[in-house]
Amino acid sequence: MPETATYWTKPIAEAVDTHLRAFVDDVAAARLGVPPNLADALRYALLGGGKRVRPVLAWCACEAVGGNGTDALPAGAAVELVHAFSLVHDDLPALDDDELRRGKPTLHKHAGEPMAVLAGDQLLTLAFGALGEPAAGGRAIDATTHRRLVAELVAGTTGMIVGQTMDMGLDTPPGDDELARLEAVHRGKTGALIRAACRMGAIAGGVANDAPDPRLEAVSRYADAVGLQFQVVDDLLDATATTEQLGKAAGKDADAGKTTYPAILGIVGSRALARDLAQRATDALSDLGPEADPLRRLSRELADRSA
Ligand code: IPE
Ligand code: IPE
Ligand code: MG
Ligand code: MG
Ligand code: MG
Repeated sequence: MPETATYWTKPIAEAVDTHLRAFVDDVAAARLGVPPNLADALRYALLGGGKRVRPVLAWCACEAVGGNGTDALPAGAAVELVHAFSLVHDDLPALDDDELRRGKPTLHKHAGEPMAVLAGDQLLTLAFGALGEPAAGGRAIDATTHRRLVAELVAGTTGMIVGQTMDMGLDTPPGDDELARLEAVHRGKTGALIRAACRMGAIAGGVANDAPDPRLEAVSRYADAVGLQFQVVDDLLDATATTEQLGKAAGKDADAGKTTYPAILGIVGSRALARDLAQRATDALSDLGPEADPLRRLSRELADRSA
């Protein structure tokens, strides 16, 4: 089973889990009337596993622009709900056909395919509801900020789905060579939600709503580098780590004949690229002060992650 978080991000990941659990119990089950077996499927896919990288990025991006991380919890929860939906559907027999996720049977193995499809639908829907639910101790979300968060979540989710469409060979990625095409797939399927997480954190943290804010541009450049880096490392781990370490099937990309960074650049070349992207990420933050140090640290640690 992969580590949930490194020690310094653990309190953030725990705050995210508390927020998500309360959201499923109080909003999905109690207020919206999601039936118990569907609510259990949501909890199965969402809670009790996962590194919470996207909500942690949202929290740290919020603080990088001078906000209070708690105010990024609704945005982080929303992105994590979309992410959980993307994993449930990614694992379905029609897509990657995987049986293990976060150290447990995938949702369709646990609860059957119909429930997995419907739980994915519900997770995606709840993500938009989560944007309007402030965290305990957090600020209420004003209408302009809410509208911006919705637009970012739509863009990030669309980018992810477009990337998945290309990953499944249903659309041709743009680019003149194999590497450019692979980059387009990775920037879509994984980068787009990471970009949304970071930008939404910064928006929740109070970047200007009425004028372009250079801090949001810096966070976006950071996110673009980290988003690509994250999938380069996912490919690397698929090729180098064990199933036990990952909590999901290792060696799956080669078996499925997927184009990956290790397949094109080799293991050493892919590691070098991941570190280069971490450097590009920190370079993007050069005009921000020490309040952006957690973001800087995350990009370095994510380049060398082992799960
Ligand atoms: C796995 O994401 C799928 C990708 C988009 C690379 P994570 O590595 O963040 O998975 P969890 O959430 O920690 O399980
Ligand atoms: C997944 O990429 C990206 C998603 C949008 C879920 P992968 O298919 O490589 O993710 P894993 O390795 O199954 O987690
Ligand atoms: Mg996939
Ligand atoms: Mg997969
Ligand atoms: Mg993978």
